[in-house]
Amino acid sequence: MKANFNNNHIANTYARFPVEFVRGEGAVLYDSDDRRYLDFVTGIAVCSLGHCHPEVIRAIREQTETLMHVSNLYWTAPQLELADALCRHSFADRVFFCNSGAESVEAALKLARRRGKALKGHDCYEVICLEGSFHGRTLTALSATGQPVYQHGFEPLTAGFKHIPPNDIRSLELAMGRRTAAVLIEPVLGEGGVHPLSDEFLKAARELCTQYGAILIFDEVQVGMGRTGTLFAYEQTPVVPDAMCLAKALANGFPIGAMLSTEEVMEYLPPGTHASTFGGNPAACAAGLAVMNIMTSQGFLKNVRNLGDYFHKGLEDVAHRHQAVVRECRGRGLIQAIELRFPVPDLAMQLLGDGYLVLLGHGRILRFLPPLTISTEEIDSMLQALEKRIADITAQ
Ligand SMILES: Cc1ncc(COP(=O)(O)O)c(C=O)c1O
Repeated sequence: MKANFNNNHIANTYARFPVEFVRGEGAVLYDSDDRRYLDFVTGIAVCSLGHCHPEVIRAIREQTETLMHVSNLYWTAPQLELADALCRHSFADRVFFCNSGAESVEAALKLARRRGKALKGHDCYEVICLEGSFHGRTLTALSATGQPVYQHGFEPLTAGFKHIPPNDIRSLELAMGRRTAAVLIEPVLGEGGVHPLSDEFLKAARELCTQYGAILIFDEVQVGMGRTGTLFAYEQTPVVPDAMCLAKALANGFPIGAMLSTEEVMEYLPPGTHASTFGGNPAACAAGLAVMNIMTSQGFLKNVRNLGDYFHKGLEDVAHRHQAVVRECRGRGLIQAIELRFPVPDLAMQLLGDGYLVLLGHGRILRFLPPLTISTEEIDSMLQALEKRIADITAQ
């Protein structure tokens, strides 16, 4: 049965494209008319190993046939093993599991507040965030988000957040103080338009956090899990955070979130201070473990870097040939964007009509988040479709 787009019972919170997807394989999606699309969205950086990866499916199937859920009052092997794998491949010693990106941000913020108050007194709860950032839609993650457009109508927001312009060291210095519990940063602003932060700014953030006894939290919900060409984006920066938020691609489409931190920081969330019924459930963790095994296998991340370079060069070439339309290309690994000189609000719809899924932000920033397993032929195919559409704009 095909979806009825016009008369349905879904809350109207999304402006959806008029298409119903029924199955996927690798970088390809099929709609209810069996039409084929190349997916450069992947559920917004979720299906990073492509749709229906056989290893992930096998892990979920075997685990759900064995044990699907028990409370976090008890131990399960998949959760222990995924936490172990995440810690072995990062700076962290401990993992709090939850179900989404916003929840992982909430966990990090609760950790920062509890630690700040314990170490520096009751009024140490402030968190410094960046203008243009995105941290999720729960009220507190929304309060951390540096985009007033998403906050409008939901006030009063959670108190204690300060927003400064990205890469502005002076503003950061001025914002920091005895009340600062944490600095929360996406090392590459994702939803805000794919802006990698400067090494100098990140170094200053690290130094100021240490100086003021605050923690540095990296929100790697979108750019973690191989997206930038290293398992975690912080690995390509000169700094190491104290806590890190993950979700999205961690289980390739099975809902999961994780907040990672060091032993000495995570100590401030002892038993009873935070919880999640579904967090770390065996099925999600089995899927996460399959993802970790693949992403840490020999050559996987190097291939992502090569594909990222290839894609970026292709986008640069398109930009160069159409300078009247394209302002800039930005990206790291396989999170890439082109910013147009003016809004073209129909562009994502036009490309969907051509058989390509892309994200369009603010009407003029095209964001590409293909599977990390995409082929160069599939990238070429997207570049050709994109160039054709941009050429049409140039001709107008
Ligand atoms: C950097 C970042 N943090 C947090 C979130 C929120 O994640 P979720 O939608 O899973 O709550 C997102 C979602 O796009 C994100 O990009």
